[in-house]
Amino acid sequence: MVAPPSIQSLASALLPVLAAATAVHPHQPRQAIITEDAFFYGQSPPVYPTPETSGLGDWAAAYEKAHALVSQMTLEEKANLTVGYPPPNRCSGVTGSAMRVGFPGFCTTGAGNGIRQTDFVNGWPAAISIGASFNKNLTYLRAVQMGGEFRAKGSSLAGGPVVGPLGRMERHGRNWESFSNDPYLAGEMAALTVRGIQEQGVQAMTKHFIGYEQQSHRLAANNISAVSSNIDDRTMHEIYLWPFASAVHAGTASVMCSYNKLNNSGSCQNSKALNGILKGELGFQGWVISDWGAQDSGVASAMAGLDVAMPSSKYWGAKGEILAEAVRNGSVSAERITDMATRIVAGWYHLGQDQGYPELGVGMPISFTEPREIVYARDPKSKPVLLSGAIESNVLVKNINNALPLKKPKLLSIFGYDAPAPAAQNTPFQRPEFIKNNGWIWGATGVNISSYNDILYGRESLPGISLGGTLITGGGSGATAPAYISSPFEAIAQQAYEDDTSLFWDFQSIKPAVNSGSDACLVFINAYAGEGVDRPYLHDDYSDALVKNVAANCSNTIVTIHNAGVRLIDQWIDNPNVTAVIFGHLPGQDSGRGLAQILYGKVSPSGKLPYTVAKNESDYAAPNPDLGEGQYEMYPQSDFSEGLFYDYRHFDKEGLKPRFEFGFGLSYTTFAYSDLSIESITQDAPRFPPKMPIKQGGNPALWEPLVKVTATVHNTGPVEGAEAAQLYVGVPGHDSPVRQLRGFEKATIPVGGKVTMEFVLTRRDLSAWNVEAQDWELRKGKYKIYVGGSSRDLPLDGVVRF
Ligand SMILES: *[C@@H]1O[C@H](CO)[C@@H](O)[C@H](O)[C@H]1NC(C)=O
Ligand SMILES: *[C@@H]1O[C@H](CO)[C@@H](O)[C@H](O)[C@H]1NC(C)=O
Ligand SMILES: *[C@@H]1O[C@H](CO)[C@@H](O)[C@H](O)[C@H]1NC(C)=O
Ligand SMILES: *[C@@H]1O[C@H](CO)[C@@H](O)[C@H](O)[C@H]1NC(C)=O
Ligand SMILES: *[C@@H]1O[C@H](CO)[C@@H](O)[C@H](O)[C@H]1NC(C)=O
Ligand SMILES: *[C@@H]1O[C@H](CO)[C@@H](O)[C@H](O)[C@H]1NC(C)=O
Ligand SMILES: *[C@@H]1O[C@H](CO)[C@@H](O)[C@H](O)[C@H]1NC(C)=O
Ligand SMILES: *[C@@H]1O[C@H](CO)[C@@H](O)[C@H](O)[C@H]1NC(C)=O
Ligand SMILES: *[C@@H]1O[C@H](CO)[C@@H](O)[C@H](O)[C@H]1NC(C)=O
Repeated sequence: MVAPPSIQSLASALLPVLAAATAVHPHQPRQAIITEDAFFYGQSPPVYPTPETSGLGDWAAAYEKAHALVSQMTLEEKANLTVGYPPPNRCSGVTGSAMRVGFPGFCTTGAGNGIRQTDFVNGWPAAISIGASFNKNLTYLRAVQMGGEFRAKGSSLAGGPVVGPLGRMERHGRNWESFSNDPYLAGEMAALTVRGIQEQGVQAMTKHFIGYEQQSHRLAANNISAVSSNIDDRTMHEIYLWPFASAVHAGTASVMCSYNKLNNSGSCQNSKALNGILKGELGFQGWVISDWGAQDSGVASAMAGLDVAMPSSKYWGAKGEILAEAVRNGSVSAERITDMATRIVAGWYHLGQDQGYPELGVGMPISFTEPREIVYARDPKSKPVLLSGAIESNVLVKNINNALPLKKPKLLSIFGYDAPAPAAQNTPFQRPEFIKNNGWIWGATGVNISSYNDILYGRESLPGISLGGTLITGGGSGATAPAYISSPFEAIAQQAYEDDTSLFWDFQSIKPAVNSGSDACLVFINAYAGEGVDRPYLHDDYSDALVKNVAANCSNTIVTIHNAGVRLIDQWIDNPNVTAVIFGHLPGQDSGRGLAQILYGKVSPSGKLPYTVAKNESDYAAPNPDLGEGQYEMYPQSDFSEGLFYDYRHFDKEGLKPRFEFGFGLSYTTFAYSDLSIESITQDAPRFPPKMPIKQGGNPALWEPLVKVTATVHNTGPVEGAEAAQLYVGVPGHDSPVRQLRGFEKATIPVGGKVTMEFVLTRRDLSAWNVEAQDWELRKGKYKIYVGGSSRDLPLDGVVRF
C-alpha cells in the first residue's frame, strides 16, 4: 500500500481525529490534490468498543457454555481460534482449534448454492433462480436439503446466503449468487435460507458485508487500493443493510465481511459497520469472518469487530501469536479477545455442533484418486426440490401465436452453444485440463473464460458467454459441483421419443441452416458471469446474431437464455418471428428436465423477474463498475449517489419504460385479482418504535405487525398454474421510492380456483430511516398499498394512514 498518511489513518480507524472528520457533499467538485481525509465523500466514524454479549434470546444457553469453555482457555488458545489454517482436506478453509479443552475449530466450504469441490453432492439452482421463483417453500426446502449435504460432508459452515451484492451495478460478476436486486425479496429469501441451513446444525454465513457491488478493484493490487463503496446512511439502512438485518433476525451464526472498503475504511476493519451497525444496532450474536484475504490490519481489525481472519492471517500471526502479543502489551483489550473466542465457540454450541457432528471435512478428501472413505451426501428427498428449482427458475417473458407450450411437434430444430451438456464434468479433481474444459464451472477467479473456450473449441474470443455447454451455475467460489447435468438437448430428445418428433440440431454455427419444415426452432444462448471479473456487457453480438439468423428463416423461433444476471434482448425481442423467450437463469443440475416441463406444458411457468430488464444499458442508474479516474486512479471511489433509486425504484422515479419490469413473468393461464382488504392491527402506532431491549435483528418493535392485507387471486384461464402475488408500499414523502416490494406470496391455483393471499406488514416494512433521529420512522400520512402480478401490473390499490 502506498496510500498517503491521511488515508492510512483512515484505514487504522483508531485515531480520535477521525471523530471530527466530516464528509463533503457528493457533488462538490473534486480538488486535484488529496490533502485531507475529508477529500472523499465517504467517511466512517469510529465506534468502539465491540459490543460484548452474554447471548440474547435463544443464544443465552450457548453463551453460558461458551463462557465456561473459553474461561479454561489460555490466551494462546483464544488467539488460535481467530485464524485460519491450511485445510488438510477440501474445506475452503479451516479455523484454529483448542483441542486441549475439546474445541475442534470449523470447516467452511462454499458456497451459497451448495457444497463445492467434491463428489456425491447436488448442483443446486443458483440464488438468482431462487429469487426468480418467488417461492418461499422452495427457498426453505432448498436450504434444508443443502444444509444436510454440508453436514454430511463435515462442513461446520455453509458459505451463504449471499445478500451482497444486491445488483446495484448490472455488470457485476457475482449478482447471480444473490437472490435479487430488491432488498426485501433478498432479505426474505436469506432469512428462510438461514433457517433451513441452521436447522440441520450447520452455521449459515451471510455475506458479503457490505457494499460489495463490483468485482473490479475488489482487492488492492498494483498500488491501487480496493474500491470504496461510499454509501449514505439512509441508503445503507433501507437498501444494503436491509437483507442483512433479515438474516440476523433469522439468527445467522456468522457474517462475512467483504473485500471492498466502505466509506474508505476496509469492510473488515470498519468499526462503524461491524461494531456500530452489525453487532450494535442489529444485535448480531454470532461472529464475523473475513473474506479470504480481506483482512487489512492487525490491531485495527480486531478492535473494529473482526473475529476470524481467513484463510490465514499475516497480521494476527499464523497461530494468532501476534494478536496474543498485542493483548499482552495492551494494544488489544483482554475483553476483546475473550469476546472473539466466546462468539466463535457460542456459534458451535448454538448449532449443537458439540454433539455428534461429523468429523470436519470427512467427505472431502484432497485426493479423489487414492482409496478413501466415500461419503454420500445426496438425499433422495432432494429430488423434487431440485426439480422445482429448475422449473421455477424459468421466467417466460414473451409468448405469441401460442408458440408455447409445444404440442407434439413433428420437427424441432435446436440451435446454440447452450443446448448440450459440457464436454467434461470433473470438478472434484481440479486438474488444470479439467478446469480448462469446465471454464464455466470453475473458471472465473481472475481468469479469462474465453481463452478456455478457445482451447476447447478453437473459436474466436467471446468473453461474457460460455461456449462450453449449457450454463447451470456461474463461476468462481459460488460454482457448484453437480452430480450430473440434464441438458436442454437431452431433455428434449427424451420427449421427442415420446412424441415421435424428429430433431435437427446444430450447436456450432452462428448461421445454422434452418429446415423449412421445422414446427419450431429452439435457440439456446447464455450470459456467463463469475467471481473475479465484472461482465463485459449486458448483451453480446455473437448470441444476438445467432438468434437473428435463425429468426430470419424460422417464423417460430423460441429463445432460452441461461443468464447469470440481467441480459438485455432489445436486439431482437420485437422480431415477430421470435415467438417465445425464456430467461432460464442458472437452474442447477436438473436444468433440462425442468425446462422441458415448461416447454411441453406439463407445468405452467411461474417464475418472475427478480430484477428489471431495461431496453438499453443507458437506462440503468449505475450499470458499469467504477474504475477510478484521474486523481482517483489509486483510490477508486464508488459513490452510491443514486441512493435508493436503482433498479425499479429508478425506473419508477424517472418514468422510464423498462423492457420487462421487476416482478414480471408470463403463465399459460390468466389470473384476476380482487377483494383487497387492508386492516390496521395497531391503532395510533407511535412515530418511532418503542425502545425495547435489543434482540437479533435490532429493536424487536421493528418486527411487530402493523397492517394486514389480503387479496384474492382467481385462476381465470385454461390450465392450473402458480401465481406469485406481490405487494408494494408507497411510503409518504417525495424522497421515497414510488413503491417498494414489501410482500409476496405464491400459490398453485387450479382452473377456476380462488386463493386468498395474506400479507403482514411490520413496522420496518412501513418505515423510512430517519438520519437525524437515527431510527426508523413511521411517517405521518397516507401509505399507498398495491397488490398485483408485477411491479407495474397492480390492479388492486388502497391506502392506510398513520
Ligand atoms: C458513510 O458516509 C456517509 C456520508 O458521509 C454517511 O452518511 C454514512 O453514515 C457513512 N456510513 C458509514 C458506515 O460509515
Ligand atoms: C491451533 O489450531 C491448529 C489447527 O487446528 C492446531 O493444529 C493447533 O494445535 C492449535 N493450537 C493450540 C494451542 O491448540
Ligand atoms: C508500487 O509503488 C512502489 C513505490 O512507489 C514502486 O516501487 C512499485 O514498483 C509499485 N508497484 C507496482 C506494481 O506498480
Ligand atoms: C504490541 O504488539 C503488537 C503486535 O505485535 C505490535 O504491533 C504493537 O506495536 C505493540 N505495541 C507496543 C506498544 O509495544
Ligand atoms: C481473453 O482471451 C482471449 C483469447 O485468448 C484474448 O484474445 C483476450 O484478449 C483475452 N481478454 C482479456 C481481458 O485478457
Ligand atoms: C436463410 O436461408 C437461406 C436459404 O437457405 C439462406 O440463403 C440465408 O443465408 C439464410 N439466412 C440467414 C440469416 O441465415
Ligand atoms: C420470418 O420467417 C420467415 C420464414 O419462415 C421469413 O420469410 C421472414 O422474412 C421472417 N421475418 C423476419 C422479420 O425475419
Ligand atoms: C443501447 O444503445 C446503444 C447505442 O445506441 C447500442 O449500441 C446498444 O446496442 C443498445 N443496447 C441494446 C441492448 O440494444
Ligand atoms: C407452500 O407450502 C404450504 C404448506 O405446505 C402450502 O399450503 C402452499 O401451497 C405451498 N406453496 C407453494 C407455492 O408451493
